[in-house]
Amino acid sequence: MRAVDIIIKQRDKEALSKAEIDYLIGNYTLGNIPDYQMSAWAMAVLLNGMTDQEITDLTLAMAHSGDMLDLSQAVKIAVDKHSTGGVGDKTTLTVAPLVAACGLPVGKMSGRGLGFSGGTIDKLESIPGFQVDLSTQQFIQQLKNHGIVLTGQSADLAPADGKLYALRDVTGTVQSIPLIASSVMSKKIAAGAQAIVLDVKVGQGAFMRTLEEATQLANVMVSIGKLSGRQVIAVLSPMDQPLGSAVGNALELKEAVEMLHGVGPEDYRYHCLHLSAYMLILGKLAKDIDEGVAMAERAIQDGSGFAKLRELVTIQGGDVSYVDDLEKLPKAPLVESVYAEGEGWAAMVDAKEVGETSVTLGAGREQKGDRIDLAVGIMVKVKVGDRVSPGQELFEIHANDPRKLQLAKERLKCAVKIVNRPVEKPPYFHGVIGM
Ligand code: URA
Repeated sequence: MRAVDIIIKQRDKEALSKAEIDYLIGNYTLGNIPDYQMSAWAMAVLLNGMTDQEITDLTLAMAHSGDMLDLSQAVKIAVDKHSTGGVGDKTTLTVAPLVAACGLPVGKMSGRGLGFSGGTIDKLESIPGFQVDLSTQQFIQQLKNHGIVLTGQSADLAPADGKLYALRDVTGTVQSIPLIASSVMSKKIAAGAQAIVLDVKVGQGAFMRTLEEATQLANVMVSIGKLSGRQVIAVLSPMDQPLGSAVGNALELKEAVEMLHGVGPEDYRYHCLHLSAYMLILGKLAKDIDEGVAMAERAIQDGSGFAKLRELVTIQGGDVSYVDDLEKLPKAPLVESVYAEGEGWAAMVDAKEVGETSVTLGAGREQKGDRIDLAVGIMVKVKVGDRVSPGQELFEIHANDPRKLQLAKERLKCAVKIVNRPVEKPPYFHGVIGM
């Protein structure tokens, strides 16, 4: 077999066999197939799509590219959650400690930023010393002893996704249902959680722009999960405007920790409480949403969620004083705001524009392996449906470079649309698949 023949087949819209997919993924993982061939193949997948059988074969090949964890030796049931990527989506940082504090073990392998969307692992690196590359053994041991693990892709778990994810980020091959479904589900299957809540984002600031596409992605992932014997549900959540206020690594970490103290934007609070509830239902600790929400609220009020975060940071080698005193987190020297010129109601706060602007400030990568700037980002001060008056602050930009700050100001001026009639607030969720 040769990689070039597989690329040509994909380009010509012929379905790949399981043997061909296994060959491609196995040899890419081993370093025998170079990035340039894999990029060409990924672009062919993005343009031509894949059959359901190919997506399943691809997912399993990627999951089996490293160790496959069996968490049942460590805990009775472990839940995981995963977002398909959005702007300002720092949910894991709040939800994982809340759910673990409720007594349900959370073992999660997270990603780095992808395109205009941020990644949990980059955000966690705002805490000096925090280790994001745990071995399989450490993962299992920590889950057993502490009931919480947040790690990045290691060489041991789904390494094929680790390599392909970084490549897709810089080759325009992120927005593809087969590539997203296999990336998400290979990690979930390899990491061994028996129950998984998927947060499928839809809208301008998501990789799926329409509800139809997002539903298709959700259905594919739920059925791959079922085939692998996992309980999977997918929540469809809007991503036309950023979630919460903070966009950028340290800023988002700060907002996530503040939410564990019960402080922060209402949409973010609602999102965290409900995702926690779905995880608690799958983990059989809550009988319904109301009970799950009440449990998560209690973990905020009694401080047990924050205590769990401290425990996580400590065991993974991070300097816990950075979550105790959020003022210690990396800070950008230049902070300036963008103000409203007109009057009316906010009809759009463009999540994609905000996400891309934050990447140009340095919060994301433009090339594979780029170092990101943890301090920079944007605080979004307006939500769709808000009344806006002239001179009102819309965005606060945190920058390290005056030229980038100026460019960000110009871009963000166009990111909010103000109209002269009241605008309804968007829903917090569009629905749930697989319940
Ligand atoms: N999250 C992932 O893990 N992979 C993707 O491709 C997109 C979002």
